[in-house]
Amino acid sequence: MTMKKTTLALAAALLPLLAGAQDAQIESKVAALMRQMTVAEKVGQLHQISGGLHTGPASGEDARTQADIRSGKVGSMLNVKGVADTRAMQALALQSRLHIPLLFGQDVIHGYRTVFPVPLGESASWDMEAIEQSARVAAREASAAGIHWTFAPMVDIARDPRWGRVMEGAGEDAFLGSAIARARVHGFQGKRLGATDAVMATAKHFAAYGAALAGRDYNAVDMSQQQLFEVYLPPFKAALDAGAATFMNSFNTLNGVPATGNSFLQRDVLKGRWNFKGFVVSDWGSVREMVAHGYASDLADASVKAINAGSDMDMESYAHLNYLEQSIKSGKVKMKTLDDAVRRILYKKFELGLFDDPYRFADAAREKAVLADPSHRAAALDVAQKSLVLLKNEGGALPLSRDAKRIAVIGPLADARRDLEGGWVVEGDRARVVSILEGIRGHAGKAEVSYAQACGVGCTNSDGFADAVATAAKADVVVLAVGETWDMSGEAKSRTDITLPGHQEQLFAALKATGKPVVVVMLAGRPLVFNAIADQADAIVYAWFPGSEGGNAVANVLFGDYNPSGKLPITFPRSVGQIPLSYAQPSTGRPVTDEKDVVYKSGYIDSVNSPRYAFGHGLSYTSFKYSGLTVSSAEMSPSQQVTLSFDLANTGKAEGTEIVQLYLRDMVASVARPVKELKGFQKIHLLPGEQRRVNFTIDRELLSFFNSQLVWGAEAGDFKLMVGSASDDIRLEGALKLLPAR
Ligand code: GLC
Repeated sequence: MTMKKTTLALAAALLPLLAGAQDAQIESKVAALMRQMTVAEKVGQLHQISGGLHTGPASGEDARTQADIRSGKVGSMLNVKGVADTRAMQALALQSRLHIPLLFGQDVIHGYRTVFPVPLGESASWDMEAIEQSARVAAREASAAGIHWTFAPMVDIARDPRWGRVMEGAGEDAFLGSAIARARVHGFQGKRLGATDAVMATAKHFAAYGAALAGRDYNAVDMSQQQLFEVYLPPFKAALDAGAATFMNSFNTLNGVPATGNSFLQRDVLKGRWNFKGFVVSDWGSVREMVAHGYASDLADASVKAINAGSDMDMESYAHLNYLEQSIKSGKVKMKTLDDAVRRILYKKFELGLFDDPYRFADAAREKAVLADPSHRAAALDVAQKSLVLLKNEGGALPLSRDAKRIAVIGPLADARRDLEGGWVVEGDRARVVSILEGIRGHAGKAEVSYAQACGVGCTNSDGFADAVATAAKADVVVLAVGETWDMSGEAKSRTDITLPGHQEQLFAALKATGKPVVVVMLAGRPLVFNAIADQADAIVYAWFPGSEGGNAVANVLFGDYNPSGKLPITFPRSVGQIPLSYAQPSTGRPVTDEKDVVYKSGYIDSVNSPRYAFGHGLSYTSFKYSGLTVSSAEMSPSQQVTLSFDLANTGKAEGTEIVQLYLRDMVASVARPVKELKGFQKIHLLPGEQRRVNFTIDRELLSFFNSQLVWGAEAGDFKLMVGSASDDIRLEGALKLLPAR
């Protein structure tokens, strides 16, 4: 064995030992500290309060808050950011009797100073390296600004675009969502927690928050445990396996029990079955909200129910602060329950090195340097252009011809900046956001670029349409930027109507009537319904909310400097009436068909069943040919694996990247299986004319599912294997028989 291999092998063997030693060392420090703590001081570690989001260090205008911090009654704060303010609050905490430092948490969801595409947009890149890099940059910037902990990644599976928070997640699929959860946790936490360019991640919102009834935020969730384990829990487990330091529970009830007080979720599954060693923070006020749910009789009861169910830290309910000490005295909460929660939190503070140096994340010079790092903007551009999805492109409308002399850029979002950032922006450098108009102007070369806003925010007024039509009439091509404003997606932003707000579709029709080719760039935090545009536009680029470099990313795609490669991570319905809609639908006893002469079918009398755009859909400026599928064996025993292979060729004129997707169907099982499940994907970059053999390994794990007893496993029988460019664009099929275990 070479020296290098020996060294690597030694390191691989030593690392777990070293981690174990660190673990034991920290555990003993935690134990020693806890032996000194009073019950009140222990309770203080579970109490998290918010600072003044944009008004300095803390809601510290409130002297009581500062007094609580000084007396060790506060263990963590959120919404305190920047070296100056975090140092100020930390200094107060260090005046407490045991000098226990604060943890600073923040919603760094898709960037801190440099804003990346909203998570749903990033997910459309299907690019785990890019997604990890995005979280890495966010962690570098946030940790340089005194923040220890981000409340991300949000890993809620969502199949209802009426729910505004679909913007914050990775879409509808457990397999893709799990890969993205891993990438985001690795990006935020880096190689090891404790480095000053890493932050603790939070897997949120535990659990099933994305299945809120009717897509109405904060609404109840009702589902079988089999569906919970099959669809909604896997990304959380993936985040945990990736080392997520913390979990955040959710506002919703799950089968009648609030997640915050849900012992099945937090004790049985998370801390029991999955052996989670980190801590659980409640969502904002969700402990208190158990009273409103009708699950707790008052705040004292809510505090008892939360901590006994495994919810450790209380964000902004003041429940533990005011009632937990009394509940310990009365025996409603055992001291070992309190100690377990405190131990989990203190462990992280030691792991972050905050007892060695409480200010180690608060270096003003580093903050200045890191927040100005130009490489972050380059990363934001890279991720943004990979997130754009070319939904439609006819008549060679795109890429824009270099001969185009006059380009009209029109629409309420054409020169928008704030909207490109999307929701959950902490510190975005708004003045430096590149608008779509700016991006096009920067890429148009000699072409003349004209501009007409046509209507204002929400496009409720069409007075500017005539001017816009006149501008379009003088151009060779029209680029129309429409969609949602940034504040129409996100928390508490559910919509019953997900069409384009205001008169934007009418604006499109007026511009289309000029006879000029119209390229539509759509901004949104969710799938929208835009059937007229889908039918009549010459090209459509779905840009989500693409972040600080959004205008440049859009321009790179429009002019062909970047060949779009994004694929939809979520289904786009034809109408709200089809929701919930996912490609991974179970089969039905009656046929799912649009055949008119089939009366008794599973469908609608007023719509076809198919979505407007399917999960996995996304076009390119080149074309790809799939051929020559082979499966290394037609049969497989549970202990074996087979290789599915096929050729992918770039048959067009431009180099491009294809995201090939592997789906399968378990034809007969003890639980009726979906007609299709994503079980693999690869991003393949090919030059024109280049061909490559693509391989997927299929093993028992890939064929497994949770049966009705929640047992994970694969059942013998036939499987259909499918490879395609989208869930509704299957190019090759194969078959595999899983043999019974001997
Ligand atoms: C919010 C959100 C949660 C966020 C928390 C702190 O209500 O539900 O995602 O992390 O409060 O801002």
